[in-house]
Amino acid sequence: HNKEQENVLKAFEWLTKLYHHLLRHTKEGKEGYNYLISRGFNDEVIDRFQLGFSPNSKEFIAEFLEKKGFHRQLMVKAGVLTVNDQNQATDRFRGRVIFPIRNHLGKSIGFGGRTISDQEPKYLNSPESDLFRKGSLLYNFDLARASIRKEQEAVLFEGYMDVISAYKAGIQNGIATLGTSITESQAKLLRRYVDTVIICYDADRAGLQASFKAAKLLKNVGCHVKVASMPDNLDPDEYIQLYGAERFKNDVITSSDTYMAFIIRYFRKDYNLKLEGDRIQYVERVLDELALIERPIEREHFLKELANEFELSSKVLDEEIRSRRQKIG
Ligand code: GTP
Ligand code: MN
Ligand code: MN
Ligand code: MN
Ligand code: MN
Repeated sequence: HNKEQENVLKAFEWLTKLYHHLLRHTKEGKEGYNYLISRGFNDEVIDRFQLGFSPNSKEFIAEFLEKKGFHRQLMVKAGVLTVNDQNQATDRFRGRVIFPIRNHLGKSIGFGGRTISDQEPKYLNSPESDLFRKGSLLYNFDLARASIRKEQEAVLFEGYMDVISAYKAGIQNGIATLGTSITESQAKLLRRYVDTVIICYDADRAGLQASFKAAKLLKNVGCHVKVASMPDNLDPDEYIQLYGAERFKNDVITSSDTYMAFIIRYFRKDYNLKLEGDRIQYVERVLDELALIERPIEREHFLKELANEFELSSKVLDEEIRSRRQKIG
């Protein structure tokens, strides 16, 4: 770290404490606190994740940083302050609930701010920098690491809200990418710690597509992949609010699909299986995927399922897979 980065880290440490204190103990933070309570959070969770609030004031945070001796220019560069037309520096996150984003050592290296009204954008994150690189970071990895290692399993979510809700529901090995699809560097980082990753993204179109991408990538770096699914476009946080912790654990996490079961389900959406032509194309596509599976038992299992469903002989399907595997080499 250079001197400048050290200063930014120091400022982020102060800010994390300040935002949290304001939320927990002051009148100015009350609306942020009430918002989090309305979302089902409690003090234990608020403290564990160091959640905070940035008051809707023009000068408050800027003055605090100045008093602590942090240069305004540096704070602008670090994405904490923005300068307006009157050359006035204000907090970029003002009026928002704050989610400190910690690195793997537990130090704040950026913030996510969520509006508590209907302001756009819904979330504002710290800008990318050498210190804050979203593509190589996993939210909550520092706190989840022990549990991840012990269980040899991690649950991958889309957002902070989901990680925190899941923690409240008793799931301690939850992590999230910050609103972007998982990168190879994040996947490799995970692989160093776990055997299995359970993907638990939002049950909407975007989430399903992101699940497919993440499943492929994680599989490619050698993870054992499972994919959870939920009904009605819900996200994990909403599901837990609606149905509770037990059902989330039993019906979503523990019942998640194997990689192949998910892939088979995922491909299905592109075909009308009532049509002969589509049926054949779909089977061909699934066979391409089956041919990539290394474990013979796993291949056999899905081959039988496919044979049963489409009333094809296992022998023919097996030949198809053999010829595909020969081509792959
Ligand atoms: P809630 O609406 O508070 O429940 O949040 P959510 O986690 O359900 O949000 P959503 O599924 O829309 O997005 C998941 C993640 O994407 C969030 O945790 C953010 O990191 C990111 N994200 C969502 N909306 C925005 C946005 O408007 N801007 C940016 N930069 N990131 C966003
Ligand atoms: Mn506290
Ligand atoms: Mn989403
Ligand atoms: Mn969501
Ligand atoms: Mn949500």
